[in-house]
Amino acid sequence: MTQRLFTKLLGVFLLLLAVQMLVVEFLIHRIGERAAGEVLGVLGRDALWSALLALLVALPLSAWVSRRGKARLRRLVEFSRRIADGDLAARIDIQGGDELSKVEAALNKTAERLAQDFAELESGRAELAVMLDSMQEGVVAITSNGAVRWSNAVMQGIAGLQLIPGRPLLHFVRDPNLLACVRGALERSELCVGRASLLAPGRVFEVNAAPLLSGGALVVLHDVTGIEAAQKSRREFVANVSHELRTPLTSIQGYVETLIEDPNPSPETTLEFLGVILKNASRMTRLTEDLLALASVESPDYKVKLQPVRARVLLSDAIDSIGGKFVDSGVELQSTSAPDSLVMADPDAMHQVFGNLLENALKYAKSGKRIRVSARLLASEVEFTIQDFGPGIASEHLERIFERFYRIDKARSRESGGTGLGLAIVKHIVQAHGGRVWVESELGNGASFHFTLPLAPVLENPPQPAQQTPAAA
Ligand SMILES: Nc1ncnc2c1ncn2[C@@H]1O[C@H](COP(=O)(O)OP(=O)(O)OP(=O)(O)O)[C@@H](O)[C@H]1O
Ligand SMILES: [Mg+2]
Repeated sequence: MTQRLFTKLLGVFLLLLAVQMLVVEFLIHRIGERAAGEVLGVLGRDALWSALLALLVALPLSAWVSRRGKARLRRLVEFSRRIADGDLAARIDIQGGDELSKVEAALNKTAERLAQDFAELESGRAELAVMLDSMQEGVVAITSNGAVRWSNAVMQGIAGLQLIPGRPLLHFVRDPNLLACVRGALERSELCVGRASLLAPGRVFEVNAAPLLSGGALVVLHDVTGIEAAQKSRREFVANVSHELRTPLTSIQGYVETLIEDPNPSPETTLEFLGVILKNASRMTRLTEDLLALASVESPDYKVKLQPVRARVLLSDAIDSIGGKFVDSGVELQSTSAPDSLVMADPDAMHQVFGNLLENALKYAKSGKRIRVSARLLASEVEFTIQDFGPGIASEHLERIFERFYRIDKARSRESGGTGLGLAIVKHIVQAHGGRVWVESELGNGASFHFTLPLAPVLENPPQPAQQTPAAA
């Protein structure tokens, strides 16, 4: 606006000067030098005054306009510097309506747009980071020279330390399989799939290292510890079952062949051999029954038929059903205490639990001469205990004793007809009831097998002092 005014004033001033020069020229030619001198005297004074006046107005005005222009340019430079430094909130004050102010408005709009795009990008990036952090898999992006570009929270957890971007992956991860896979993806630009077991103690990961189009690679680690353990357990199970079946089968086959090959076996030999064959056949029957029972309790469809049962009744039923075996063996079966509280139990399944624990005590702790069975009321459950005074169990076996086929002394256990599945079945049944099972023992000091059953959810089942029940023989 002011610039335009200044230009107009300057134009008028120059026009006046031009007109004055034309008039002087005309007077010199038309009215002679003398008359012209007079006229010029008058005109010259006026022109001088008007020129001076115009100069007085034009000079400060031009100085002001130039100062103002410079200040606006400085503001523009300062604005560009702030934007370049990432301050996208920076804006210029728009002054007037000249060309420069149009540039200022356009720059403000650009900055606004930039800020908007940047905010959208930032929120997209944050969303992606949240998604990657909530993944089950560890993810790490690697630059083309093997440095960490980015990693998610799971990856940090696996490595056990923070993967600092820019540092080589080798500084944080030492598993040779993983590093070889990453190298393969970077150098040959092809997907590499492998296994890493040295990243975290006891854990196995499947590694997928894929080359990125933009250079570098993306590595994804999937925890397959559970799958590996299940596969190993399945392999061991098949090997154990085959072994357990092969032993009696080989024996049966051997004795049958001997009997067939002997044209005239004595009746005593025949009887003895048939006895061995029967024992091995029974062992196989027992094994298949145990395997079927285990398959049933391990199945995801296995459901116990829970009903409120008095703890005292559960205990006395168990003692009644196995009591005869104790009488024959000469081992004393003592029952000390049992609360009258109602527990949630499947009586048939409980029969299996008590049966196995009492038979074990009879099989492996006969030397202790007596076995004590008891139950006590806890805050929300009843704890049952089968205690023997036999040889006990060494501490290194206590953790593993509930595993399938785990036997402390395989030869002795096999001799006594044990398959090593009983405690595994017990564990599954108790857990299906919502209870816990454990063993306490010291070598030479007998063993105590404990398990709990939750109390029945009835109001008229207040905690009562434990009642003494008469000892059962
Ligand atoms: N009361 C006990 N005292 C000492 N050792 C025991 C006792 N109970 C169990 N064990 C040991 O724990 C092992 C596992 O017991 P478990 O009941 O699972 O198998 P098992 O008795 O050998 O065979 P199954 O019960 O299938 O016939 C036994 O082989 C035995 O070595
Ligand atoms: Mg057993």
